[in-house]
Amino acid sequence: MQVVVLAGGLSPEREVSLRSGRRVAEALRTSDTSIEVTERDVDATLIQQLCEHPPACVIPLLHGAAGEDGALRDVLHALRIPFVGSSAAAARLAFDKPIAKTIIGIAGIGSPDAIALPHSTFRELGATAVLDAVVASLGLPIIVKPTKGGSALGAAVVREQADLPAAMVGSFAYSDVALMERLVTGTEIAVSVYESNGVAISLPPVEIVPPNGIYDYNARYTAGMTEFFIPARLSQSVLDQCAAVALRAHQSLGLRDWSRTDLIVDADGTPWFLEVNAAPGMTETSLFPQALASAGIPLGELTGQLVRTAIERGA
Ligand SMILES: Nc1ncnc2c1ncn2[C@@H]1O[C@H](COP(=O)(O)OP(=O)(O)O)[C@@H](O)[C@H]1O
Ligand SMILES: [Mg+2]
Repeated sequence: MQVVVLAGGLSPEREVSLRSGRRVAEALRTSDTSIEVTERDVDATLIQQLCEHPPACVIPLLHGAAGEDGALRDVLHALRIPFVGSSAAAARLAFDKPIAKTIIGIAGIGSPDAIALPHSTFRELGATAVLDAVVASLGLPIIVKPTKGGSALGAAVVREQADLPAAMVGSFAYSDVALMERLVTGTEIAVSVYESNGVAISLPPVEIVPPNGIYDYNARYTAGMTEFFIPARLSQSVLDQCAAVALRAHQSLGLRDWSRTDLIVDADGTPWFLEVNAAPGMTETSLFPQALASAGIPLGELTGQLVRTAIERGA
């Protein structure tokens, strides 16, 4: 059985994706010798290769645009190739942070107050007037982040209004729309979800303690820099609430196979939804594989099961 792991691509998270791809491919090879796993980057020869030698299944592990905004999944669907993970439509909803916040808000999940503004609004209305209105509404501190991004690239905490313009510029470097969101102080938690026989199951919540409070790119991918606690050091009832938020996010956005929800639990024990990832990182330091290991489930075994499910589901 031929399986193609798609990793790399042109997003700023290319290196992360390659590491995720390598990790999953190796785990799958080791766990199931009946599966022949090929790792493949995304380039102009991909479609031709997939058409000439259609694999039984593709595992898209592309982060950022193309991988998570649905485009590549739509192409796989058009080629009638089964793939592991969420449909293009669901991935697109999850990848757009303000849209995901709106949908999960309708499902009754709280996320921090936020304002999303495209670059053009600043030109049309004047940057100073717009930023004054944002600060008057949200207060400070806030975090500015690209609406479509990942790995905290282009994200910056703003504690004083004087620092806001630079943060906006940093965010616009990654995405045309910037999300300005109230900064929640508390415990950062990631809850991974996987599906087994069509049932979504949450994995033990992982507590993330980055060196400077924000789980930024270096804190994520430098081994030993961030401390993790599994399960998180919170009461069982708060852990249950976090799991419920992740399951509700997975279901209300129509996600499939696997996802990871990022949350902050405030001092009152209230979990605040930040975002949900349709293509969770799978590197050595990533949260999904850590949560899976803590539940005693080998990554290769889960991936093999999801491959079989995807093949049965068909294109
Ligand atoms: N509203 C917020 N309050 C506090 N910290 C936040 C908030 N939003 C984001 N962060 C921090 O920034 C990081 C990246 O934000 P996130 O929304 O998960 O985007 P992504 O992981 O896609 O870059 C989080 O892991 C967290 O450390
Ligand atoms: Mg995140």
